[in-house]
Amino acid sequence: MEGYDYNELLGVGRVSADALEFSKKVIKPGVKLLDAAEQIEAFMKGRGCEFSFPINLSVNEQAAHYTPPFDDKSVFSENSVVKVDLGARKGFYLTDCAITIDLSGEHSKLCEAAVEALDAAISIVRSGVEVCRIGAAIEEVGRRFGLKPIRNLGGHGIEKDELHADVFIPNYDNGDNTRLEEGQVIAIEPFFTEGSAGMVGDGDIVEIFQRHGDSRPRSNVSRELLEEIESRYITYPFAARWLYADKKWDNEFKVKRALSDLVSSEAIEPFPVLVEKSDGIVAQAEKELIVERDSCRIVT
Ligand code: CO
Repeated sequence: MEGYDYNELLGVGRVSADALEFSKKVIKPGVKLLDAAEQIEAFMKGRGCEFSFPINLSVNEQAAHYTPPFDDKSVFSENSVVKVDLGARKGFYLTDCAITIDLSGEHSKLCEAAVEALDAAISIVRSGVEVCRIGAAIEEVGRRFGLKPIRNLGGHGIEKDELHADVFIPNYDNGDNTRLEEGQVIAIEPFFTEGSAGMVGDGDIVEIFQRHGDSRPRSNVSRELLEEIESRYITYPFAARWLYADKKWDNEFKVKRALSDLVSSEAIEPFPVLVEKSDGIVAQAEKELIVERDSCRIVT
């Protein structure tokens, strides 16, 4: 990539990897999800980073996209299986990585499978490898553990300023012969479920949004909020809870109405929580890496 300093990216990746380690200390039964989210985001801020997206703390059958609302009272339970998906960002250097924390220890096979599949995938990454081969390697580990991969989630290319860039890296052999290229930055993220569907669908909760396109709403309040979003988060995904930190936007009713107006006028895109379709427990493991000629370099 032109004008792209891989060393900068590796520095940001270090922060994300450390934040995942830190999250293991924070996430315990009885801890509020909101407190955990704020502490882990503060950890990344403390290391001089912004965010590629708000931290996702998705529990049990939620596969992704849960970030606590500003007034979230919920706590992790003894049985929570928590997907921590986060990404520190500096300028246009974006990172993305995830671990699963199994608080009861009763889903260790599920979590182990995700980590093993990620390792198996990473071991075959090199320039020229077909993405379906990576998917096949992930699927094979799932088969060994008797688990289904989530077929409609997968890894992705990461470019300057773009978290979900062109290449899609499946979690099963989808027959896609696209080849990885030297210098490409990608994230690989196997998801497995104990459920029978192996698919996710949109849930009812929406706490993550992103500016897209250039349409502007008619209402003054919504326009004002949109300007705030553009100046604070540019085109990066943001959490609704981040808005409430500002006195001007601490009115719940006003913010919710403006956000839903911005969604219906297509000025921002909503990212609903993704839930496994058979309500199966889900585990995920994710790392970002740089494709090299004969192997790869881990970023996170
Ligand atoms: Co990702």
